[in-house]
Amino acid sequence: MEKNNESSSSCPMGETAQEKGFLHVPECYEVQPVDRPRFDSKIADIPIIDLEGMCDNPTRRRKVVEDIGFACRNSGFFQVINHGISQPILDGAISTATRFFDLPTAEKAKFMSNEVQKPVRYGTSIKDGLDKVQFWRVFLKQYANPLNDWILSWPNNPCDYREKMGDYAVAVQKLAIEIMGAITESLGLGPIYLTTKLDDGMQVMVVNCYPKCPKPELTLGIPPHSDYSCITILLQNSANGLEICDSGDGSWKLIPVVRSSLQVNIGDYLEVLSNGRYKSVVHRVTLNSEKTRISIASLHSLGMDVKMETPKELVDEEHPKGYKESSFNDFLVFISKNNLDAGKRSIMTAALL
Ligand code: OGA
Ligand code: NI
Repeated sequence: MEKNNESSSSCPMGETAQEKGFLHVPECYEVQPVDRPRFDSKIADIPIIDLEGMCDNPTRRRKVVEDIGFACRNSGFFQVINHGISQPILDGAISTATRFFDLPTAEKAKFMSNEVQKPVRYGTSIKDGLDKVQFWRVFLKQYANPLNDWILSWPNNPCDYREKMGDYAVAVQKLAIEIMGAITESLGLGPIYLTTKLDDGMQVMVVNCYPKCPKPELTLGIPPHSDYSCITILLQNSANGLEICDSGDGSWKLIPVVRSSLQVNIGDYLEVLSNGRYKSVVHRVTLNSEKTRISIASLHSLGMDVKMETPKELVDEEHPKGYKESSFNDFLVFISKNNLDAGKRSIMTAALL
């Protein structure tokens, strides 16, 4: 194999080890020993919040708002059940995603691009061909809101991709707005503070595939990062792999898969909105040698050029304004100009879009 050099990787997009199902892990995938997964991670102690009645039962809603506020202040991560998205919709999205990634590379490569601004983009690393370290992941990123603007540019192979993924996209966008309503209420801003802006905002779906990895102890599926979203809602198949960083001691904790539940994490935008009361969560994905892992992350933010600002109500002597306002576009411009090293994080260095 050709030797790696600084600017080009030995596995170009379309021919990476994970796409080709290599039985060994090439050197360009090896992360630094301190960053390697340990596989003895404790299970994260994160709340499971039952959303039943959140929208139509005032007593239940008070409890849900309280639980969500507590989770946002303490772990920045929670799971939701009784969220209103039916099992057939969840299963349909995972199933069509799985079949998409089973297609021959040439079919998926139609969407291949390194331009982070592309509304539909297939890729295998953060910046393919430019990253020094590669990660054992294949992904399709697609814009999804409003659906009619984007769905015709999504894959139509498998033939049910647009229908199944579209049904999930609409359902998860609605859920994100409901959850954000509870979050802004928990901050004292009321339940509709961001509703219109989110309704008109960006929904970026990242459909991820982490193929079986012959040496999962050497590499990662996604390096540590936080998401550039208000919240991210994650649906996963039955393979574990998501880990969150404990802000107390820096240890990694595993998020177990709970059937029918969805995982919600706070992104950088919400950290700005809440003036740091709610912190975005650093997370990463580890691999396994037995099972391909599929996940669908739905990242919800404001419109492309709409800047997120900290409201006056959340700035006082005890909480001086801590963040610069920025838009989704500011973020895209930033990441297209900067090489993000794995693990680096600031309010402007975040998710892998
Ligand atoms: C992401 C992400 C987690 C996962 O796409 O930003 O963190 O479990 N995904 O795939
Ligand atoms: Ni993420």
